[in-house]
Amino acid sequence: MRLIAANWKMNKTVSETEEYLRRFLEILKPYEDREVLICPPFTSLYVASRVLSGTGVRLGAQNCHYERKGAFTGEVSLPMLKEIGCSYVIVGHSERRHIFGETDELVNRKIIACLEEGVRPILCVGEKIEDREAGMTFKVVETQIRIAFSGVEGMTDRVDIAYEPVWAIGTGVPASPEDAVEVHRFIREVLREINPRAEGKTRILYGGSVNPENAPEFMKHGEIEGLLVGTASLDPESFAKIVDSF
Ligand code: PGA
Repeated sequence: MRLIAANWKMNKTVSETEEYLRRFLEILKPYEDREVLICPPFTSLYVASRVLSGTGVRLGAQNCHYERKGAFTGEVSLPMLKEIGCSYVIVGHSERRHIFGETDELVNRKIIACLEEGVRPILCVGEKIEDREAGMTFKVVETQIRIAFSGVEGMTDRVDIAYEPVWAIGTGVPASPEDAVEVHRFIREVLREINPRAEGKTRILYGGSVNPENAPEFMKHGEIEGLLVGTASLDPESFAKIVDSF
């Protein structure tokens, strides 16, 4: 089943979250062939879980800590997220990596923790513009994936991957669907090498300047098994259109 995910980033207060979700649920068509996921900021998770309860729309967090509890000021653990109804967590988003200095090793610890706790991670990978220009896209993406799965190679089927070229995030300039497909095929090959038995069980999403106009262009390719949407998910009408784009 394909997955359409909203990453609100650091947007929306509790009351804005409630207002958005009520409208979104009003206009969202009933689907049985796709999964819809909303990842609001931590402060909105509780209200979102109440509003979304029983609707089939999934709830996810944008980040997590790898320990279950302890002296980690400002962090949020997976048991906390689970109890509030999160079934997904975004791990290694490019903003976490590049603004907050998350390394591949830290991402790996978080993936392991998610697998232990049974929360499905959406592992984000993607190259910077200088990597692409230097012909390093495949190398960068492969390294990110291999380190992320280090020690848990047999569990690739419990993770989804979002390919998000850094230069396409929040810029209004998406990758071309053909370029995205090329990287998605490459990721599929890397996953096959890591865990041949789980072939085809990791969904590979595209993210980076997706909007209602270009979403159908991505989704018409079978290799693109979902979308991770930032800016265009902040408006319920726009996100509902993206969900409806295939
Ligand atoms: P964008 O963000 O849709 O605003 O480019 C996507 C993301 O960062 O997940």
